[in-house]
Amino acid sequence: MSEAVTRASAATIALDRIVQEYARPEGGVNRVVDELSLTFTGPSINMLLGPSGCGKSTLLYMMGGVRPHNIKMPTSGTISIDGVACDGAHDDAVMVFQRYANRPDLTVYDNVGFPFRLKLWRDRIPTAERHDKIMHMLEAVGLADKAKLLPSQLSGGQNQRIALARSLMLRPRILLMDEPFGALDAQTREDMQRLLVGLYQEYPCLIVFVTHDVTEALLLGDRVVVLSTQPARIADDFAIATPKPRDTHWLRTPEAMALEQRILSRLHQATGKGTLRVTV
Ligand SMILES: Nc1ncnc2c1ncn2[C@@H]1O[C@H](COP(=O)(O)OP(=O)(O)O)[C@@H](O)[C@H]1O
Ligand SMILES: [Mg+2]
Repeated sequence: MSEAVTRASAATIALDRIVQEYARPEGGVNRVVDELSLTFTGPSINMLLGPSGCGKSTLLYMMGGVRPHNIKMPTSGTISIDGVACDGAHDDAVMVFQRYANRPDLTVYDNVGFPFRLKLWRDRIPTAERHDKIMHMLEAVGLADKAKLLPSQLSGGQNQRIALARSLMLRPRILLMDEPFGALDAQTREDMQRLLVGLYQEYPCLIVFVTHDVTEALLLGDRVVVLSTQPARIADDFAIATPKPRDTHWLRTPEAMALEQRILSRLHQATGKGTLRVTV
């Protein structure tokens, strides 16, 4: 096994009895997450599936150490990475957002190479290797011929490719993705799902991928954790062993259709409101 795989395979994130409460504007508190415990171990793609507003982003941001400065996150409970309690941003955890956060004033090339402006990543990757790494990632996401363009000259899907390339170039041990393809049209979303599976096979790591799309969870997940709302609790948690890439034909097999029904019925039992999408 290569060094990269061995390193990546060690990554574990554990949430232990997490509670999150937010103050209500009218007074009192809103308990969004209630005593939730979960452990993710990589390399694997873990889908955190639940209706809008159930607390998925809250949980993912906690894992990535992205916390509003005036709110205690979590209200109680602990998050640990590789067995060490983690109370802020972790060097090995990289986030990808639905709004892909590309710098509009930098070229595609410079956006992908942006982490090298930060000391942490400058120290990790020698200068002589940087250009090759950037070009390799641009090729992997199909943007090598767009290197000199600005993000505004590219489509939404291509912009999300830039963000994905920037994240994976760092060979993160942990990749936290918050509905990264949620704003894309159906065809582009499918392309990006396929691309992610291919990139993951090349750069295995621990991925926690938040979605409210049942189809996306079935296509990408090695494991699917279904959350109820509100407060968020685990309504279901299962593995899918079917090899990837999985395509739309697989979605119509009895196996996939049974999983879809299982998710929908578990959610129905566990919760009332919130929307969940089935795209196929
Ligand atoms: N900073 C915040 N202050 C107050 N309420 C919040 C804050 N962030 C999220 N919420 C509330 O917590 C709930 C869960 O939000 P979120 O984690 O964004 O859900 P999801 O990502 O599943 O759609 C929602 O009701 C949302 O309004
Ligand atoms: Mg969200």
